Amino acid sequence: APKAIIAPSILSADFADLGAACSRTISQGADWLHVDIMDGHFVPNLTFGPPVVAKIRSHVDRPTEHHGKGTFDCHMMIAEPKKWVKEFKAVGCDLYCFHYEAAVGSSAAESPEAKSDRTTSPRELVRYVHEQGMLAGVAVKPATPVDVLFELIESEDPAERPDMVLVMTVEPGFGGQKFMASELPKVQELRKRYPDLNIEVDGGLGPGTIDQAADAGANVIVAGSAVFGAKDPAEVIALLREATAA
Ligand code: DX5
Ligand code: ZN
Repeated sequence: APKAIIAPSILSADFADLGAACSRTISQGADWLHVDIMDGHFVPNLTFGPPVVAKIRSHVDRPTEHHGKGTFDCHMMIAEPKKWVKEFKAVGCDLYCFHYEAAVGSSAAESPEAKSDRTTSPRELVRYVHEQGMLAGVAVKPATPVDVLFELIESEDPAERPDMVLVMTVEPGFGGQKFMASELPKVQELRKRYPDLNIEVDGGLGPGTIDQAADAGANVIVAGSAVFGAKDPAEVIALLREATAA
C-alpha cells in the first residue's frame, strides 16, 4: 500500500480558533488537513465555505509536492460538486474529493443547477478537477457499493482516474459517530485490486478502530474527535501512523 497519511478532520476543532488549530495540528505531526464541507442538502448539516477555507489556508504552509504535508483534503459533502470546483481551487484546496452519489445525481437537491449536474459523470468531474490543478478524490457513502468505481479507477486516460477513493465508515454529516466495520470489505476489495491506490477512511477512526482499517488496506486516515478531543493529539497522530504503516 502507499505511504500512511494522517488527515485530522478540523470539523472537531475549535471553530473560534480555527487557524491556530490547523497550524498546531500540522506541527503535531499531521500530514493533511481534512476539511469537511457540508451544504445542508447532501447531508443534514452545514459547516463552512470558501472564505473560511481561504483564511485557514494562510495559517498552513502549502504542500511542496502532490500529497505532501499541508495538503488541504476537501471532503465535499455537497449536492452540486461541479459548481464549486473553481471556488475551492481559488481558496487553496489541493485535493477535491466529491461524492459519487452527488456526481451521478442521486442527492436530494432539486435546483435547476443540480439538475444539470446530474448529467455530469464522475469521469468528467475528475477530469475537470484535474484541469483546475487539483488532485481528485471520489467518496462513497455506506449505501453505495464500491464496484461502481472500478471503471472510473481503470480509466484509460490518467486525467480521468481519481487520485484517491474515500470509503465512508459512518453516514456523512457529523463527527463523533460510531465506526462502521461493515464498510471494511469495500476497502479490502479496493486494496486487492489496486495496490497503489490511495484509499481513505473517514468516520469513527481512532486508537480503538485503526487496526481494522489498516489491516483492510486503508492508507489515508481521517480522524476528527479522536485527535481534537485528545489530551495529547500528537500521541494519537503518532499512534494512527504507526498502526497504518505496520
Ligand atoms: C463526517 C465527516 C468526518 C468527520 C469525522 O461526515 O466526513 O470527516 O469529521 O469525525 P470523527 O473522526 O469524529 O468520526
Ligand atoms: Zn470527512
